[in-house]
This record gives sequence, structure tokens and C-alpha cells, in this order.
Amino acid sequence: MKKDSLATGHDLLHSPRLNKGTAFSEAERRAYGLEGLLPPGVSTIELQVERTHAELARLTDDLQKYLLLSDLQARNETLYYAVLMSDPAGLMPLVYTPTVGEACQRFDRIFRAARGMYLPITARGRLREVLHNWPQDDVRFIVVTDGERILGLGDLGVGGMGIPIGKLALYTACAGVPPQYCLPVILDVGTNNQGLLDDPFYLGLRQNRIRGEEYMAFVDEFIEAVQTHYPKCCIQWEDFANFNAVAILNRYRDKICTYNDDIQGTAAVALAGIFAALRISDRKFSDQRFLFLGGGAAATGIARLISEAMMLEGVDAAAARARCVLFDINGLVVASRNDLADFQRPFTVDHAPVSAFVDAVKALRPTGIIGVSTVPKLFDRPVIEAMAEINERPIVFPYSNPTSRSECTAEEAYRWSGGRAIFASGSPYPPLEVAGRTFVPGQGNNVYIFPAMGMAIFATEAARVTDEMFIVAAKAVAEQVSEESLAKGLIYPPQSRIFEASLYVAGKVAAYIFDQGFARVPRPADIDAFVRAHAYRPAYSA
Ligand code: NAI
Repeated sequence: MKKDSLATGHDLLHSPRLNKGTAFSEAERRAYGLEGLLPPGVSTIELQVERTHAELARLTDDLQKYLLLSDLQARNETLYYAVLMSDPAGLMPLVYTPTVGEACQRFDRIFRAARGMYLPITARGRLREVLHNWPQDDVRFIVVTDGERILGLGDLGVGGMGIPIGKLALYTACAGVPPQYCLPVILDVGTNNQGLLDDPFYLGLRQNRIRGEEYMAFVDEFIEAVQTHYPKCCIQWEDFANFNAVAILNRYRDKICTYNDDIQGTAAVALAGIFAALRISDRKFSDQRFLFLGGGAAATGIARLISEAMMLEGVDAAAARARCVLFDINGLVVASRNDLADFQRPFTVDHAPVSAFVDAVKALRPTGIIGVSTVPKLFDRPVIEAMAEINERPIVFPYSNPTSRSECTAEEAYRWSGGRAIFASGSPYPPLEVAGRTFVPGQGNNVYIFPAMGMAIFATEAARVTDEMFIVAAKAVAEQVSEESLAKGLIYPPQSRIFEASLYVAGKVAAYIFDQGFARVPRPADIDAFVRAHAYRPAYSA
């Protein structure tokens, strides 16, 4: 620790990036004016991690655990990440879904320390000036939401800020993106949630959401302000309503370094699941046909990425698109329908209308069905049985979250297919036994993709984020699933070793970024070592 450049005494203890709490040595306490400000016992970071786990174990309520961790983040950032990285599988559900959902819903009640930037639409025309208030000179990663579609919870207004905060914590904990370069942002354009507007505790703008040109002009100004202050920054969009999410991504994907995890990260994690599933069934990717239940942001995002991955394998564009067919609330997404959104148009098929999903399965004979409808139970027994009749190893991915929205349970998929389904879901299911066989259902959690993508972008200072980068990431995730896991039906790597898995994926994506000429740093001899060298690890500086 360089003494001259640092705060001392009380200020040092209140500087989360520098604070070591009870781990300051006796020598440090003397040198930095800390004597008398801490109890005399000196801890190691390992002991501090253990103490935090003991404290967490005493709490029975997940929101209280969330708050304990969030207070720790505000007090001692190094210890916060040491704790998260000591048990990522166990703590991710507290820092992110599902607990973060409750934290967003109760945001106005539990608000404590400020974190990130709140940019209200009332500050339009001044965003550059407002962004200047952020204390860091170099920001490389922004996660931003407008709070309109928070998880499956809908419009939570400014309470949506919990999402960028939690998600950025995972960028660091799961792939080593250094926290000092990360900035959570909420664009507050109002809320249409009347309950919030009527709530005296609500902390956001008390107005209905601004739409249309005024909204887009505000987004444009935000991007311009970020580009001015932080030219190397990647902007990741999160939990926007689908019409805004698709419009913003299309407007900016070829102009700046940006991506949308709900669309592209989800697509990549589904693609990773498909690649791993094909290792089980030993089938060719380019022979697959997918039918989606749902035709929203997630479905069109996955369909687009699958089609592009097929095109990379030599399938022509029209044939690749025709391998992904959507079925939404009004039935099969066919060309003759006149109720379709613009973003659904590229995925229409020339087919007679079909109004029951099981009939669509029988007519189109897909090799896989992917549920992104938000509606539970629609992969019912006739649907799964039809899939099992058509396919030796049917791919069944009910991805809707949370568990209560899942299109079918793991048990239903395995039982109704006679144990032949290759299954993964959006929300986790525990291992189970069906007909004397043990199955370990995989969770298509975006966390296999976005932290690694962030790390690759950070290390290479990538100028763009392309769909091909997500295809590379998907392949790299699938490659890491062991034969032993595949034998139990598990098609994703274990979350307990997410850091190692992410660095592997980041290395592959970084290599692709260099190959494509999108890197803004010179190509190193050993790209994996280069990525590793850039990864943050929580250790106190000497
Ligand atoms: P969205 O609102 O954009 O789309 C929902 C779609 O489902 C719409 O096309 C709608 O017409 C369709 N739908 C609704 N009811 C239906 C019914 N009865 N029959 C057929 N189709 C119906 O939502 P988005 O963003 O596409 O998300 C969908 C689901 O996917 C959510 O539950 C979300 O949690 C899940 N998801 C899962 C992820 C993961 O596990 N990695 C990541 C992103 C989303």
C-alpha cells in the first residue's frame, strides 16, 4: 500500500476499496493512524470470510442476507468479493436472482448507501455534466436498465437499480472484471406502476414513462455522454421492455461497444445448452429444428443466434431462419398474420395458421422445443409425448423464470419422455430420480456467458460486440461439460467453478476479438494468460 497516495485513519476505514477492517496489521495501524480505531485482534482475510459466512448462516431471511452482503460491499469491497468468490453457487442467488427481485421491490424501504448513477429524464440536456459527478476517471463497463421489465416482476421504476448493481457484482465475482471500472446506471424515465406512484416512500420520478422520440433522444444523449467521458466503455442493456430493448440494440450494435444480455446472453446460454445436448445425442447442429413457445425478446434473440450459428456451418440464410419457428400467444408465427411486431417479422414461416402448440409440434416435427413464454405448464404431457415420439433424444428447454413460470418441471420432462429428454430450464431444479435413474437438470443461467463476455471485452478493449462472439462463448461453455455430467443429463458446467469456466470462455472470446480486429490493444503471445493477468482477485494490497 502506497502511504502517500492514500487516506489514513478514519477516512481509510471508510474507504471501501482500501479498507481491510480488522485485517490491518499492527504495523499498518501504526503507520496509518488506525491505532485505537479498531479492536486489537488482527484477522486474516480467510478468517474474515469465515466470520461473514457464520453471520450469514445465522440469518434465516434471504433479504436480510442480501443486506448484510450489500453493507459489506459498501464497507470493505475486497472482503465482499472474497466472500462471493468463496461460494459463488451458494451466494449468487442472494446477490442476484431470485433475492435481488425482492430487493428491487423493496428498494425504497431498504435504501441505504448510494451506489451507481441515477439519471432522471428531467436532467436531459445535462447528462454529460451529471455523469461527470461519478468519481472514477476510467469506466469500462456499464450495466444500465430503465426498470421497466425487472426479471419477471414488471415495472419497478427506480427500484430496478438493484439489477445493474447485482449484475456487475457477478461480472467481478464470476469472471474477474475489476470492480473499479464498473458503473451501475438507471435511466429514470418515470414508471407506469401506479402502486409506486402512490407510495410516499417511492424514490423515483413521479410521472408516467416517457415514450417514443423523447425516450430515444434521452437514450441517445446518455450514450453520447458515456462515449465522451469513457470512450473505452461497454454498455450492457438489462431488463428493458422488449420493444425498447430490441430498438436500442439495433440502433447501436454496429456503432458502439454494446450488447443486451436478455437478448444475446440468453441466446448464447441456450445455444451452449444445444451444443452440449448434441454431444449427448451425437447429432449434427445443422440438422436441428427448433420450435419456440413465445415470440418475445428472448425467443427472437435465441432464434437469431441459432440461425447465425447455422449459417457459420454453411446452411444458407433462408434455410437457417426456417429452422427456428415461433409460436406466441396468438399461435404459430406465420407470414399471413397481421398482428406481429416488427422484430418478429424476420421469423415468420409460410405455413397455415396453427393455434394449439401440440399441433405445431406434430406439424413441424422439431428436434427441440424452447419455452420463453412466461406461462407455466404449456409443455404438457401431450407435447412432451409428441416430442418423444418424433425424436430419440428430444431437446426440452423450459426457460421461463421463475420456477413458478416454467413451461414444465424436470420430472415431467423426464417422466413423460421415458427418460429420453435432454432437459435444461431457466430456474434451477434439484437432482431427481425417475424410473431408477438419476438425472441432474441443468440451469440455462446467463451467468455462464455475460461475466466471461465482459472479461473478454475488458481485457481486449473491444470496439464492438458481435453475435459471433456469443457463438464462440456458447461453444466454449459447452466444451467444458464433462462426460460424467453429460451421462447424468447435465449440459452446463457446475456453478461452483464458474470463475475458472468464465476465464476459459473469456480466453476464447478474446482470441476471436483479436482475430476479427476488434481489439484496441496489441495482440499478446498467450491470450489465455493475458486474460488471466487482467482478472481481479480479492486480495489486500501489502
Ligand atoms: P416477452 O414478454 O418479450 O415475451 C413473451 C412471449 O410469450 C410473447 O411473445 C408472448 O406472445 C408469448 N406468450 C405469452 N403467453 C403465451 C401463451 N399462452 N402461449 C404462447 N405464447 C405466449 O418476454 P421475454 O423477455 O422474451 O422473456 C420470456 C421468458 O423467458 C421470461 O419468463 C424470462 O424469465 C425467460 N428468460 C429466461 C432466461 C434464462 O433463463 N436464461 C433469460 C431471459 C428470459
